[in-house]
Amino acid sequence: MASITIRNLDNEVKDLLRQLAAENDRSMEEQARVMIRAAVEGQLGSAGRIDQIEQTLRELASARGLAAPVTAGKIMPRGLSGKRILFIIGGGIAAYKALDLIRRLRERGAAVRVVMTSAAQEFVTTLSVGALSADHVFTELFDRNDEHDVGHIRLSREADLLVVAPATTDLMAKLANGHANDLASTVLIATDKPVLMAPAMNPRMWAHPATRRNRATLQKDGIAFVGPARGEMAESNEAGEGRMAEPLEIVAAIEALLDVGPKPLSGRKIIVTSGPTHEPIDPVRYIANRSSGKQGHAIAAALARLGADVYLVSGPVGIADPAGVQTIHVERAQEMRDAVEQLLPADAAVFVAAVADWRTENSADEKIKKVAGEGPPMLRMVENPDILAGVGHHSQRPGLVIGFAAETQDLLRNAEAKLRKKGADLIVANDVSQESGVGPSGVMGGDRNRVRIVSKAGVEEWPEMSKDEVAARLAALIAERLKTIVV
Ligand code: CTP
Repeated sequence: MASITIRNLDNEVKDLLRQLAAENDRSMEEQARVMIRAAVEGQLGSAGRIDQIEQTLRELASARGLAAPVTAGKIMPRGLSGKRILFIIGGGIAAYKALDLIRRLRERGAAVRVVMTSAAQEFVTTLSVGALSADHVFTELFDRNDEHDVGHIRLSREADLLVVAPATTDLMAKLANGHANDLASTVLIATDKPVLMAPAMNPRMWAHPATRRNRATLQKDGIAFVGPARGEMAESNEAGEGRMAEPLEIVAAIEALLDVGPKPLSGRKIIVTSGPTHEPIDPVRYIANRSSGKQGHAIAAALARLGADVYLVSGPVGIADPAGVQTIHVERAQEMRDAVEQLLPADAAVFVAAVADWRTENSADEKIKKVAGEGPPMLRMVENPDILAGVGHHSQRPGLVIGFAAETQDLLRNAEAKLRKKGADLIVANDVSQESGVGPSGVMGGDRNRVRIVSKAGVEEWPEMSKDEVAARLAALIAERLKTIVV
């Protein structure tokens, strides 16, 4: 199979490619691949041969009003301009990706200062890291001979965000348990700045109860995570969850944490429903379901990060209101319907709530008592309003209406039926059958999800990922769809 060495392209072309790659949030290699594919398919003017791609790149650049040649870094998106990132590199095979990450952060205008653990230095050298970060690389907790020694407190004080990549089992364990016996762990425990970890480890280490425990502790302590992803590991014959997130995914997470990411949804009003509903039987009893609200809340947060004005109508849940979102708390399906309809008009609505299909016809005003000899009370149930269907067929229907469907059988047929019946544009379908491996108890209340996006155009299958990742991807899809809907 042929391969392209970007290094061998002439500088002018390389700069243009770098510019296009950054604009599209792709690596240069991916950008080259996309363009070659497009050229071969004849989508880029007359270019149908590899040797015409240089010309095509030039044409594309001039069509965008970019002066060619473009000096590297000069017209990069500088969204991280002025931001200071303290980057801790842990000791793992994924440390090689740290070099690319430094380059991408600097391209976006960030100042990157690096701390390396001694294990990290077994994988990459301080020399290459220093060259890319254009700064001294910090490795020792106490180094009186080092003229650059600024001390761990200053290192964290002089940063806006700490990023740990790869976050190894050991680094996670140290921070989760409050250890501080080298520069990296001391800086992490001494900081009051946000911390982002990109774990990378062997799948068995990631799955170990100790690592699970440490991750849960760190999350509770407010540490943000990106990845790990599922896939092939560097060790041969090893696959599973544990691969470090790609540098561009880490950059996106950094931008989200620093709130400097692109805001394609600014000015858009979006309603999200989330959580279960509680249908009262009497003042102390109710009918409920196991929805945790995690997926709906994550979607609301992801939409807000892209700049949308988000109104989250939430049933009773045990999780916090997402930051940057207006949350309206309701209990019953009818209250949820009223709240949603009062929020219309909107640009989009996403119905994630697990709304109870039925409620008791009349809930008792007083607690129902056991009466000897009378047996259990008879509960007469009536159907609840279908909130999604109501909005899907409303005179003020938002331009984009998205529903969810949790199915245990005939996933696609049921999702397509819901699409039509409820007047939705998209149905996000979860396979919650036991065979799916995720299962109802896995999705409901769990942190992971595997979904398919069903629309009139067909079905798109997404791999299993965290609910936060599903949310980020769905928010990006919504932004893409709303681009074509003019209000
Ligand atoms: N939904 C809603 N109001 C209801 C019931 C469901 O808004 N009363 C929305 C959910 O938020 C979800 C979608 O409809 O987006 C599908 O919900 P689901 O419970 O799977 O659909 P049902 O119509 O209840 O069908 P089923 O018979 O499969 O339970």
